[in-house]
Amino acid sequence: MLFEGKFTEDGFDNRVTRLFGIQYPIVQAGMIWASGWRLAAAVSNAGGLGIIGAGSMYPDVLLEHIRKCKAATDKPFAVNLPLLYPDIEQHVAHIIKEKVPIVFTSAGNPKIWTAKLKAEGITLVHVVSSAKFARKCEDAGVDAVVAEGFEAGGHNGREETTTLCLVPAARSTISIPLIAAGGIGTGRGMYAAMALGAEGVQVGSRFVCTPEASSHENFKEAIINAGEGDTIVALKKLTPVRLIKNKFYNEVQAAEDAGSSKEELEALLGRARAKKGMFEGIMDEGELEIGQVSSIIKEIKPAADVVAELWSEFKATAAAPFSY
Ligand SMILES: Cc1cc2nc3c(=O)[nH]c(=O)nc-3n(C[C@H](O)[C@H](O)[C@H](O)COP(=O)(O)O)c2cc1C
Repeated sequence: MLFEGKFTEDGFDNRVTRLFGIQYPIVQAGMIWASGWRLAAAVSNAGGLGIIGAGSMYPDVLLEHIRKCKAATDKPFAVNLPLLYPDIEQHVAHIIKEKVPIVFTSAGNPKIWTAKLKAEGITLVHVVSSAKFARKCEDAGVDAVVAEGFEAGGHNGREETTTLCLVPAARSTISIPLIAAGGIGTGRGMYAAMALGAEGVQVGSRFVCTPEASSHENFKEAIINAGEGDTIVALKKLTPVRLIKNKFYNEVQAAEDAGSSKEELEALLGRARAKKGMFEGIMDEGELEIGQVSSIIKEIKPAADVVAELWSEFKATAAAPFSY
């Protein structure tokens, strides 16, 4: 046995809970237009790791969210930095100045910022969609990897590897701590991911349907009403993204089918479609990023309840995995 996890009196002890200093191996994913300081602080206060999603924030907005999160929790929290973000240097400066303890980077080369952030004593995690990239992360010196499968909401890997296939592949490729993401919205799902070799889970879509998520109510309602097959990975020519099929999706899909170039697609997308959909609740014109797990999300409930339910179902499953 290489890596062991065990229940403690009030939580779990393994490399992920120790790395982040948290009670449960549950990470709330960084999500544009959903995960501001309110959600991050609520999850951290509930014993998981909350993440502020910087991808939809200008640097001064991120600074405000970091400060509010620090005021709302004395527990560890993190910031997610999509590395393609144009203002990344200012974001990093704020993160260092405010002494954010943990950063999750995504959508880019992990090598670029690892040395600088680690030199500041920051714990660094990178999100990948293939075992090959998980290895690159380990080589680059990151502290842990999130392996995100094809079921996941938001931007998605070109490999289209599902969580069920990706987690064991990553596990046999790297020896640093591994966190699974994509399709996890229940304690039973969490147990499955950890049986596959993950030492923690990153949960995105489930946390969108909480009062603390900054997403628009229309979007939350659409998630509750989504059924099987209502999400799809679109925009494969640009950056693949899993979203709800709506008018926006039909338009971009028709353009892709008609052979539009990358530039034509960019022009059609225009600006701020994600903000329109997820933050402003304009349901036909906006982009609505969400995962396949939306088909089993049936209720909006407080983030602390989501954490507590994930944990209690995980524990019950561990005690009796084959009782349903
Ligand atoms: C609304 C939404 C926005 C997202 N935005 C980001 C983001 O800004 N950065 C990122 O690394 N991942 C983003 N993701 C992916 C999540 O961080 C996470 O890995 C994913 O949601 C996990 O899969 P699940 O949705 O099945 O739980 C987003 C996902 C959703 C649903």
